Amino acid sequence: MLSIIILAAGKGTRMNSLLPKVLQPLAGKPLLEHVICTSKALKPHEIFIVHGFAGELIQQRFQSNLDLKWAQQKEQLGTGHAVMQAAKTISNKNNALILYGDVPLVSIETLSLLIEGHQDNGISLLTALLPYADGYGRIIRHDGDIKAIIEDSEATDAEKRINEINTGIMYCDAGQLNNWLNRLNNNNAKGEYYLTDIIGMAVKDGAKVRGIKAKNWEEVMGINDKKELATAERLLQKDLAEDLMEQGVSLLDPARLDIRGTLTCGKDVIIDVNVIFEGEVRLGDNVNIGPNNIIRNSKIHNNTIIHANCHIDGAIIGQKSAIGPYARLRPGTDLKDNVKIGNFVEVKKSTVGENTKINHLSYIGDAKVGTSVNIGAGTITCNYDGANKHITEIKEGAFIGSGVELVAPVVIEKNATIGAGSTISKSAPKERLTLERSKQTTHDNWQRPKKS
Ligand code: UD1
Ligand code: CA
Repeated sequence: MLSIIILAAGKGTRMNSLLPKVLQPLAGKPLLEHVICTSKALKPHEIFIVHGFAGELIQQRFQSNLDLKWAQQKEQLGTGHAVMQAAKTISNKNNALILYGDVPLVSIETLSLLIEGHQDNGISLLTALLPYADGYGRIIRHDGDIKAIIEDSEATDAEKRINEINTGIMYCDAGQLNNWLNRLNNNNAKGEYYLTDIIGMAVKDGAKVRGIKAKNWEEVMGINDKKELATAERLLQKDLAEDLMEQGVSLLDPARLDIRGTLTCGKDVIIDVNVIFEGEVRLGDNVNIGPNNIIRNSKIHNNTIIHANCHIDGAIIGQKSAIGPYARLRPGTDLKDNVKIGNFVEVKKSTVGENTKINHLSYIGDAKVGTSVNIGAGTITCNYDGANKHITEIKEGAFIGSGVELVAPVVIEKNATIGAGSTISKSAPKERLTLERSKQTTHDNWQRPKKS
């Protein structure tokens, strides 16, 4: 059975941040969450997170993940010491895979290769070829076989020229791992228990160390500072954009799209530049997303167009609809088919029926709007009395003139017409014109004030 150990106890000093390193967001998710997702895809028997620095904060963030096991490393005495905190509680019959909370891009395929070709009693070690190996542990080979890992801080000049590096990721028998870990010492430049020293020990014990090379350096890059975090973000976004294009999505510029969550697209979707998707977003067939949109946790059905500069959060949008430019749809918005929401319109916690138009400068909150309703420019639902929210109901076929205030709770009946500029606080009957306006007056003796 597979036991996975994820190291996440380090402070991440080089991030210069109050947020622990493994909680720094990459594509909208903490670094550690990426590693946990990859781990889960390998269907392990158990996943251990070794936590130490800001451990409570990290546990809190993942508290809904009930199947995670936590091993505390009280003092950060090195990677070997960190692994030991989890390994000592793992059954000797299991195999252990060691991963790092700050190496988030490693692929499931590479880890599967590492696990699949494993030979009993040995260590399978993931290595990588790097153009600049500075800072990494170097792989020492004799006649092609791996003999040891030398940490950068301990390496001679000749060893520093080796460009095959230790990714830190390894797989081996848990019983043997514990045996080697128990024999580690900290007689080295940093005074730490280096996990990497177990490689030399294994070789001395006659165990085979099998090296598997990562597909590329990108997937094994360790993230230590904000520059590396930004590099990883671009790499990941490029991959996500390429996946979408392979599925047939047209991206006007794949470098100007950000997916911070899960985006699912139907056929012939077109996405213009500078669009941010957050959380879970689903786009139907033939959906067209204009430039500069932010779309979060929403569902947009077939043949709908979102014009430029909208902010859409927690909304369901029907088919053949047109939203924006400059519209804001807030959580609880449920628009049926063929709806038009125009510029500077805000909708919150409201349903809007088929063929309804709200084209300019409106606020619609806590409302039930029927089918084929026309809401004039500048109309607002006054849904809040300072203490409670109330519902506005506008029934099928109603016509609301411009600049109307609908003071909730209020009902506008079927096919009612409300004259422009009215403040409606009593329900309006069906098929009639309802007005609430003072008489228009003209003042003959009035003069414009003059500038003094
Ligand atoms: C380590 C490896 C190095 C490898 C590199 C790959 C060792 C001694 N060195 O170096 O060979 O090339 O990773 O990225 O293993 N951690 C703990 N507790 C500790 C110390 C570290 O949990 O006491 C965790 C950190 O949070 C981090 C990981 O272990 O997730 C790696 O630690 P880090 O200090 O970044 O190791 P490197 O110097 O990068
Ligand atoms: Ca590191």
